[in-house]
Amino acid sequence: MIKPEQPPGKQANNVVAGTPGGVARAVKLLREGQVVGLPTETVYGLAGDGLNPAALARIFEIKQRPLFDPLILHLAEADAAFRLAACVPDAARELARRFWPGPLTLVLPKAGLVPDLATSGLPTVALRVPIHPLAQAVLRAFGRPLAAPSANRFGQISPTDAPAVGAELGAAVPLILDGGSCPVGIESTVLDLSGEKPLLLRAGGVPVEEIEAVVGPVERAQAVLDRPLAPGQLRHHYAPRKPLHLVRGVNDIPSRTDAGVLVFGAAPAPLAGVIKNLSSGGDLREAAVNFFRFLRALDDDPRVTELYAVPLPAHGLGLAINERLGRAASSD
Ligand code: TXA
Ligand code: MG
Repeated sequence: MIKPEQPPGKQANNVVAGTPGGVARAVKLLREGQVVGLPTETVYGLAGDGLNPAALARIFEIKQRPLFDPLILHLAEADAAFRLAACVPDAARELARRFWPGPLTLVLPKAGLVPDLATSGLPTVALRVPIHPLAQAVLRAFGRPLAAPSANRFGQISPTDAPAVGAELGAAVPLILDGGSCPVGIESTVLDLSGEKPLLLRAGGVPVEEIEAVVGPVERAQAVLDRPLAPGQLRHHYAPRKPLHLVRGVNDIPSRTDAGVLVFGAAPAPLAGVIKNLSSGGDLREAAVNFFRFLRALDDDPRVTELYAVPLPAHGLGLAINERLGRAASSD
């Protein structure tokens, strides 16, 4: 099993155990319009009442997120999610049957009751039904949609355990519900079904090949810098503080002791530096679980000044990890 590494000195005192009592405290805060850190199967979210504009504004403020980047609304089940859509195409129902609850977000035309702040004024809304038991418990007890972006400051590394949420957001969040390490490790797949053809806005926890097996070919949105096709398509994202170099192979990595290197599989690793293997057995799911955690650990490691990574095999979750590596490494 994969054990979470807890960086010393980064334990926030607002972390509470994911017990029924912890869930009740989280729900009480949410009802007051406050925000809480919440585990999901993908990454930890910064959750607030999705129908309360004041709570939504607080999420943007704490994350330092630009208002043009809309939020995902989380619901306990598909019926509740689809009530927030103005219309639900057959493809959405089929995908919901196959992948909800789980790491898939569907973008659909929005219903009138969804606040403009949640969608950044767009005519569409992003909907997701998470499978994590603590997310489910909070959603069911709260009984309303939860807006929950990843619980990091805008553009930074997504947190996959409670201490990482504390390190990112600290005292700005009154309560972080501790659900251990996230079992998927990267964010949900975001699929736009509001147009003529399904459009992949973000590769993520459900491999796009599995979606195509249900709805046929899916178009890919390209990351652009100045005028994002979709709001979350900014090229620079998921960024460590230290420079990250994406190289073609381990032979392109300089042999230096202050290199922090992410490798994958059984290929020989560089001789020098701090080496972290995302999955020595070549398992892309294990690599996804480890990805943000290892990136954060190398970023925090005082021995390391520069980060290096080699792209993973470009299929399944490897595509989703490569997309994140590409944006984390962008120097724009
Ligand atoms: O796995 C996840 O999805 C996590 C957990 C916490 O559920 N949440 C998450 O949220 O990753 P966030 O805010 O970090 O990413 C949401 C993405 C952004 O890229 C945003 O631009 C996109 O979804 N998005 C949200 N609403 C949209 C819309 N109406 N049209 C297009 N893209 C949208
Ligand atoms: Mg995010």
